[in-house]
Amino acid sequence: MAGAIASLGGILAFASCACAGASFAALGRKVFAKYCGHNIRWVQKPVEGMELIQVQVIHRHGARSLWAPLQCWARSVGAPSEHPPFRCNLPFSISVGRARPLTKHFDQPGGCGLGSLLDEAPEQFKNLAWSLNASYQHTSLWKHLSLSDDSVYLYSCDNERNLASVDLLTSQLFAGSQADSAVEIHTLPAKDDPFELPGCVATSPCDGSPVQAMEEIEMDKNYRAFASTWLQQANVSWNRENFDCILTARCAGLGLPTAIHNELADEALYWGWRQQMAPVRTTNWTSLVASRALEAIANKLKMASDGPKLAVWSTHDSTMIYLLNALGGWDGRWPGYASVVVLELYASPNKGEGETLLRVVRDGEPLTLGVCGEVLCPLSRFLAAVESWQNWGCAPETKVFEELYEGSWLVWALLSLLMILAALFGLPCRGTTLTTVREPLIA
Ligand SMILES: *[C@@H]1O[C@H](CO)[C@@H](O)[C@H](O)[C@H]1NC(C)=O
Ligand SMILES: *[C@@H]1O[C@H](CO)[C@@H](O)[C@H](O)[C@H]1NC(C)=O
Ligand SMILES: *[C@@H]1O[C@H](CO)[C@@H](O)[C@H](O)[C@H]1NC(C)=O
Repeated sequence: MAGAIASLGGILAFASCACAGASFAALGRKVFAKYCGHNIRWVQKPVEGMELIQVQVIHRHGARSLWAPLQCWARSVGAPSEHPPFRCNLPFSISVGRARPLTKHFDQPGGCGLGSLLDEAPEQFKNLAWSLNASYQHTSLWKHLSLSDDSVYLYSCDNERNLASVDLLTSQLFAGSQADSAVEIHTLPAKDDPFELPGCVATSPCDGSPVQAMEEIEMDKNYRAFASTWLQQANVSWNRENFDCILTARCAGLGLPTAIHNELADEALYWGWRQQMAPVRTTNWTSLVASRALEAIANKLKMASDGPKLAVWSTHDSTMIYLLNALGGWDGRWPGYASVVVLELYASPNKGEGETLLRVVRDGEPLTLGVCGEVLCPLSRFLAAVESWQNWGCAPETKVFEELYEGSWLVWALLSLLMILAALFGLPCRGTTLTTVREPLIA
């Protein structure tokens, strides 16, 4: 009898091991669902019966080529590495002299630089402009927007794809109006730019110590099995940034080399996501590095009555993730190309009394931020959360980890229980069990 139970346990354990890769692949697909930003349109009308007094649009740039010179795959081990054959035809121009714009052309196969916008970006921003118009065009705020007064504030990270993206968006939003004077776009040098943040905060901004969870992943048996299969099929070693090779190739409709089958590619998305997200999920460091961007957004909210009615921030996926996470509004899904987080500010419902209210909408879906606890958030509560990240400073590392363990005693209790169960049933796949428990809750 005991033997039968043990062998049943063994079969179950074997089954769970064999499909570990498959369930990782399924998660990989889930967190990058809608990533390509194809044909995405939505309508989310403002809260009924309330006066909209400011809208802030935080958006990601449109579809791009690889953002870094990644070694994606090779025809054989040791052969020169290759990447997807992107094509870039958008006319990116400089017009300081005003006589005629000079149009940039990269003399490289396909005409792309690193992170260049791809030809589908104009369509993505047309869809975004359509969605924003459809949601807000009946409001008095939207009707009075103009690029030629101070009602619109534009900010972009100082790189070609972000600048070009906000240009595409505003030219679609204000298609009817021909501005006779130049429109100002605010920016800062990358090192001072609150919206230009590292794609992965792999070390503490306080004392430079590494993220423990990233080291743990590298020791995970399932990760090692994946990395070794990847090397066999792709002929280059796995690098956590290589998930961008898969996403960019698929989104541009270029496909993957036949040796890298879809299931392996989806699993690669999972591991890339898990590695990049480890600092977001296990430390406060990404919130710390995003605190200045939060402050910039909060300053505009405070100026709502006499400042801009529409503020647009053209930024990156990582920044959007850190901002949402710092506010308790991150569900694990990666922001797609030209996706948005919109902040809507409403005048207090009873004129003069009560609070100004804020609603946050991600790609058409209203969010309940953890720091607010409800969809319509009193502005003071939101500002207090932003403030808490400004004052947090660099707590001693040990303190951060003490807090981390205290805060999650329930998870540890559950984990211990699972490990006892695993030991009882002789599950050899403890790695898988741990992984499942630690996944974030993806809605
Ligand atoms: C890796 O090398 C093998 C053997 O040379 C080859 O069959 C396979 O197609 C290569 N993989 C890629 C992604 O080119
Ligand atoms: C958005 O609305 C403006 C003003 O009505 C209009 O000129 C523009 O064409 C619209 N854009 C889209 C994409 O619907
Ligand atoms: C993050 O910092 C806050 C204090 O601002 C603290 O309460 C919380 O426990 C910290 N979380 C982690 C994961 O360290």
